[in-house]
Amino acid sequence: MSRTCIITGASRGIGRAIAVSLSSCEDITNFVLISRTEEGLIETCQLMNGDKNIQYEVADLTAFDDVGELVQTIGNEFGTIDLLINVAGYANPKSLLETSVHDWEKSYKVNVHSIFNITKEVVRYMKKTGGKILNVASTAGSSARPGWLAYASSKAAVISMSETLSEELADYGISVYCISPGRCATELRKILAPDEDPDTIMQPEHVGQVVKNLLSDDGICLDGQNIVVRKQVEKIAKKQVTKQTM
Ligand SMILES: NC(=O)c1ccc[n+]([C@@H]2O[C@H](COP(=O)([O-])OP(=O)(O)OC[C@H]3O[C@@H](n4cnc5c(N)ncnc54)[C@H](OP(=O)(O)O)[C@@H]3O)[C@@H](O)[C@H]2O)c1
Repeated sequence: MSRTCIITGASRGIGRAIAVSLSSCEDITNFVLISRTEEGLIETCQLMNGDKNIQYEVADLTAFDDVGELVQTIGNEFGTIDLLINVAGYANPKSLLETSVHDWEKSYKVNVHSIFNITKEVVRYMKKTGGKILNVASTAGSSARPGWLAYASSKAAVISMSETLSEELADYGISVYCISPGRCATELRKILAPDEDPDTIMQPEHVGQVVKNLLSDDGICLDGQNIVVRKQVEKIAKKQVTKQTM
C-alpha cells in the first residue's frame, strides 16, 4: 500500500534529520519536502533512502493561499496524505521592549498560523483514511524563557493546538503528536545561543530517531501529549545544579 508523508522545514536541521530517518520506514512510500531553499531540499533528498519516491516543493509556508493549492496538488497526485510533519520554525530572541510588532507577527505566522493552515488543508484528505500529524514545539513553550517572548509563547500555542486537535481529529482516525525538543545543534539554535558549543548538545539525528519511533506502531498510545525530547546529559546537569544550590 502506498503512503504519503509531507515534511515542512526539511531543508536543514531537525526537519532534514526527520526526513532522512523516516525514509528508512518500509511503510512510507512517497515523501514531499517543503521549505523556501531549493539547495537545502536537494541536499536532504540526496541523504534519504533512494528507493523512495521523493519530491520537494520550494514554498513559503506563510503564503497561505499558495500552500492550500500546493496541498491540493499533492492530495490529487497521491490520493491520500497519511503523515504531516510540521517542523518549520522561526526564532528571533528578544525581550518585550525589543520585540517589534512585525517580529511578533512573523514568529506567530511561521510557528503557529502556518501549522494551522497546512494542517487544515491536509486534514481534508487525511480524514478519508486516517493518518498521523506531528508538530514540533519546544521546551521553551512549557517553561519560562526571559528574552525569548515571541518564540516561547508561539511554541506554547503549538502545544495547546496539538492537544486540542488530538481530541478533535480522533473521530477521523487521525492521531496528533507534539514533540518539544530541548537544545539541538542547528542554525536556529545558533541564533538562540550563539556562544554554545554545538558538539555538547543534542544532534538533529537524535530527534529524527525519536520521531521515527513515535510514528511507528509502538507510539500508538502516545498522541496528544507534549513529549519532551532531550539529551539525557542535560537532565543530569540540571540535577547537579539543583543539588549544589540546595
Ligand atoms: N534547534 C533547537 O534547539 C530546537 C529546540 C526546540 C524546538 N526547535 C524547533 O524545531 C524546528 C526546526 O528547527 P531547527 O532547529 O531545525 O531550525 P533550522 O535549522 O533553522 O530549520 C528551520 C527550518 O524551517 C524552515 N522554514 C522557516 N521559515 C519557513 C517558511 N516561512 N516557509 C517554509 N519553511 C520555513 C527552514 O527552511 P528555509 O529557510 O529553507 O525556508 C528550515 O528548513 C523549529 O520549529 C524549531 O522551533 C528547535
